[in-house]
Amino acid sequence: MRMAEAGADVIRADISKDADRHLDTTNRESVEAFLGSMAKLDVWVGAMYPVGFGPSIWSFLRCSCEAAKKMARNGGGVIINLASIYGHCGPRMHLYAGSIVRVPSPGYSFAKGGIIAMTRNLARTYEGANIRVVSISPGGVRDERQDEDFVDRYEALVPLKRMATSEDVANLVTFIASDKASYINGCDIPVDGGFLA
Ligand SMILES: NC(=O)c1ccc[n+]([C@@H]2O[C@H](COP(=O)([O-])OP(=O)(O)OC[C@H]3O[C@@H](n4cnc5c(N)ncnc54)[C@H](O)[C@@H]3O)[C@@H](O)[C@H]2O)c1
Repeated sequence: MRMAEAGADVIRADISKDADRHLDTTNRESVEAFLGSMAKLDVWVGAMYPVGFGPSIWSFLRCSCEAAKKMARNGGGVIINLASIYGHCGPRMHLYAGSIVRVPSPGYSFAKGGIIAMTRNLARTYEGANIRVVSISPGGVRDERQDEDFVDRYEALVPLKRMATSEDVANLVTFIASDKASYINGCDIPVDGGFLA
């Protein structure tokens, strides 16, 4: 929504029914059909939620590589993936004790750490192709399903003493997608209130 407000022509492609376009990022044919249906792709934002040991943890790899190939044929673009603080550090187990919020799995960290490494690789692989590749590592985003104890314990660990909002993340995605970020490439940017400091 923030990117649409900034003037981008946004397609929300998702496996859920309320999406603009159906896309199953775990399915090669679905990814190829979706990307193939567009004349040009300027920005790809990967924000799927990787779970368990299943194919979803590979989704970021498949989609980013296919998006990069398409962008290279079309003069460039920006690839942004949602990593996580848990691509940088392990879960603080006491946060989750007795909470309905589930401990991020090893598979989750595997996917998120992989995104951060893949970002560097793709930036180099496509050097000279006018493609910027950046990952963003949000800290915990406040959501009404989280119980108060979890929120209190989490916020105590953050120098800014609050959880992230979805706007915090959307603002950074919009900035990275824009020309104002035209020299930012091949890196991960935390938006975590200082959690990783
Ligand atoms: N929420 C947080 O606290 C938090 C913190 C750090 C990082 N992140 C990352 O940010 C991203 C978004 O998180 P969120 O909390 O908004 O998740 P979410 O579950 O609300 O949204 C994820 C979306 O991915 C879609 N999806 C799932 N499988 C798919 C598939 N195979 N093909 C296409 N779409 C699929 C879902 O339908 C959903 O709309 C995720 O990558 C998550 O790991 C979230």
